[in-house]
Amino acid sequence: MNWPAGQTAFVTGAASGIGLGIARALVKAGAKVALADIDSQRVAAAARELADAGGEVIAVTLDVGDPDQWQAAADQAERALGPVSILCNNAGINGGGDLDQTTLDVWRWVYRVNVESQFIGISTFLPRFKQRGGRAHILNTGSMAGIVPMARVGAYSSAKFASVGLTMVLRNEVQGSDIGVSLLCPGTVSTRIAVTSGEGEAALRGTEVNAAAVEGNSALLSQGADPDRVGEQVVEAMQENQFLIITHKEWEPLVDAVHAEIKQAYVTFDGRHGPDVSAQALVDGFNPVTA
Ligand SMILES: NC(=O)c1ccc[n+]([C@@H]2O[C@H](COP(=O)([O-])OP(=O)(O)OC[C@H]3O[C@@H](n4cnc5c(N)ncnc54)[C@H](O)[C@@H]3O)[C@@H](O)[C@H]2O)c1
Repeated sequence: MNWPAGQTAFVTGAASGIGLGIARALVKAGAKVALADIDSQRVAAAARELADAGGEVIAVTLDVGDPDQWQAAADQAERALGPVSILCNNAGINGGGDLDQTTLDVWRWVYRVNVESQFIGISTFLPRFKQRGGRAHILNTGSMAGIVPMARVGAYSSAKFASVGLTMVLRNEVQGSDIGVSLLCPGTVSTRIAVTSGEGEAALRGTEVNAAAVEGNSALLSQGADPDRVGEQVVEAMQENQFLIITHKEWEPLVDAVHAEIKQAYVTFDGRHGPDVSAQALVDGFNPVTA
């Protein structure tokens, strides 16, 4: 049987968009899938669709930002479908505006859903993967906005930078084991994220939905890639144990500009501190405070 056939996957944000695309592709590849989402109605409908198509799936209602819900959600998935060996930390929302227009509540919500949730997901499943042994895989959904800074969505962009860093560290920490790690950095994908995020932010702030912003962002996103194709790309990449998954080449010059700025800073380096003998030692051997 070709991996991931017969494996059990836990996919967050699976009621819609890229998460649903990943779930569909996993089912197509023969995996069992726990579809987790905060939107219980939509995730139940998605699970019904996949079950009708012959998939072995369940719907799990989960707010990924709530640490108290994760163990129960993981247990529910494993009771129904067997030990999970694939975690896709995909749920995410956009929010806020210019930094001085973003409330602390919105900032924290964006960080909680986009990156803190990924840490909690890893904390929930990685010990299970290590204890059971065998091949396992963790995918985090970042964004090109986690490599290229995006003005006016600073909370989102900086949370995605954190997600990119978290995933790179995770890769280093499990290197040499049977646990694979992938980082998905989509460009524009045609999903409901503008709607979900607009409604979520309005509910959080107790305001009306900013319909004009939601409409404008939805129109931009509707020109993006098909989330089902992204889902297929993700499953192929996980099969190949590929780390970085890029969906659009159009971002290359913007990424190059970020790297060129770093390179330029080395060019103007004035050597005033002498050689840094500790760089590699620090990267390889920093002493954890928690043993
Ligand atoms: N669409 C794009 O252009 C794009 C680009 C780059 C990155 N991404 C990332 O892709 C991921 C998926 O987004 P999408 O575009 O498919 O959006 P989407 O809104 O279509 O799907 C996201 C799903 O996450 C769920 N969700 C939101 N908050 C949640 C929470 N607290 N707990 C559990 N589930 C929650 C929503 O209910 C929704 O079903 C996100 O991490 C997003 O940041 C999307």
